[in-house]
Amino acid sequence: MSIHIAAKAGEIADKILLPGDPLRAKFIAENFLEDAVCFNQVRNMFGYTGSYKGHRVSVMGTGMGMPSISIYARELIVDYGVKKLIRVGTAGSLSDKVHVRELVLAQAAATNSNIIRNDWPMYDFPQIASFNLLDKAYHIAKDLGMTTHVGSVLSSDVFYSNFYEQNLKLGTMGVLAVEMEAAALYYLAAQHQVEALGIMTISDSLVNPDEDTTAEERQTTFTDMMKVGLETLITD
Ligand code: HPA
Repeated sequence: MSIHIAAKAGEIADKILLPGDPLRAKFIAENFLEDAVCFNQVRNMFGYTGSYKGHRVSVMGTGMGMPSISIYARELIVDYGVKKLIRVGTAGSLSDKVHVRELVLAQAAATNSNIIRNDWPMYDFPQIASFNLLDKAYHIAKDLGMTTHVGSVLSSDVFYSNFYEQNLKLGTMGVLAVEMEAAALYYLAAQHQVEALGIMTISDSLVNPDEDTTAEERQTTFTDMMKVGLETLITD
């Protein structure tokens, strides 16, 4: 057991999919994994281990924001030996070229968080994805016919930002979307030399607020993203 995860040693696979929403973790376990067993219910942050196409894989919620994902990712890596972590979540588009329902693979993550700056006040420590996972995810998503963008995202500490225009300005400089977790996940992966990737489905657009999705469309595109994440985890 770790402080926030009740699993016993060996109950978590070394590959894990990390949605923000714990009920989405339950959805993935029920719809994609065989013989899934729940290993955590502490704080209702559900986690499951099962089998995907014959490979042992886990899935667990992280909550929203960098402090929350940092707690879970650190315990998964340090206390349970997880080696490959893929976040699957939503993001808001900052680019007129990136539309709702499309996929963004976060090659790098800028952040306004102090999580990294506190450790490295004298450097801008780069938050980058595992190229191995990124390369695999890109080809898997393309083969599934998904519209897929690769580039940087903004990992923001603030959902309801007072600096909305600043975020949009980042969009004009190639930052594709805003979300709230990738930078912290990438930083933890760097500290412990494991592999991490953020795969995001665009759920809303800050550039074109009229762009919208139906609940059914969201379900389908989110399901596609989960497939890309799982296939990436099991591809050697
Ligand atoms: N901001 C931050 N995180 C998000 C957003 C957003 O607009 N949409 C989905 N996740």
